[in-house]
Amino acid sequence: MSTAQQPDAPVLRIRSLSKTYGSGETAVYALRDVDLDVRAGEFLVLLGASGSGKSTLLNILGGLDRPSTGEVEFLDHRLTDAPDEELTRYRREHVGFVFQFYNLIPSLTVRENVALVTDIASNPMPVDEALALVALTPRQDHFPSQLSGGEQQRVAIARAIV
Ligand SMILES: Nc1ncnc2c1ncn2[C@@H]1O[C@H](COP(=O)(O)OP(=O)(O)OP(=O)(O)O)[C@@H](O)[C@H]1O
Ligand SMILES: [Mg+2]
Repeated sequence: MSTAQQPDAPVLRIRSLSKTYGSGETAVYALRDVDLDVRAGEFLVLLGASGSGKSTLLNILGGLDRPSTGEVEFLDHRLTDAPDEELTRYRREHVGFVFQFYNLIPSLTVRENVALVTDIASNPMPVDEALALVALTPRQDHFPSQLSGGEQQRVAIARAIV
C-alpha cells in the first residue's frame, strides 16, 4: 500500500509484535502483542520499568533485531521479513539511533565518531553544525574515554542527528 496519497496514514505500523528470548522454563517474554501506529512528525516518549522491553522494541523498530512474531512496516518497507541488505539500507536512510550504552568507537575522536556517518548517509548534516548543536565544539579532538557520561551521550546524539 502506498502512503503517498494519504497524509494521515501512519509512517510506522506495528501489529501483534512479540519477542521471546530463550525457551522453556527460562523463556523471557520481552514484548507481548504490541500494536502501535506512528504518524509523521509525532514525538513519542516510551516509558516503562527497567526490563519492560523498551530497548527490545526500539531495536526491532530500528532494524537491528527481529521479532519472534508480528509485523513492522515503515512506509513501504516490511521490516519483519526483510533481508539483511534491506535492513541495512533502512537503517542508513531512515534511522538515527542513540544507544543506551552509546556505542562510540574508543580509538576515534569526538569529531571522527560523528564524521564516520557522513561517509554512508545520503544527505548528512555538516559535522561542525551537529557538534555545535550539542555544545561539543571545544571537545571535538578528545577521545570518548576523556569525556563525562553526559558528554559521551551528546556525541551519540550528534551522530544520530547527522
Ligand atoms: N539477549 C537477551 N537474552 C535474554 N533475555 C534478554 C535479552 N535481552 C533482553 N532480555 C530480557 O528482556 C527483557 C526486556 O529487556 P529490555 O532491554 O528491552 O528492557 P528495557 O525496558 O530497555 O530496560 P532498561 O530500562 O533497564 O534499559 C528483560 O527482562 C531482559 O532481561
Ligand atoms: Mg533499555
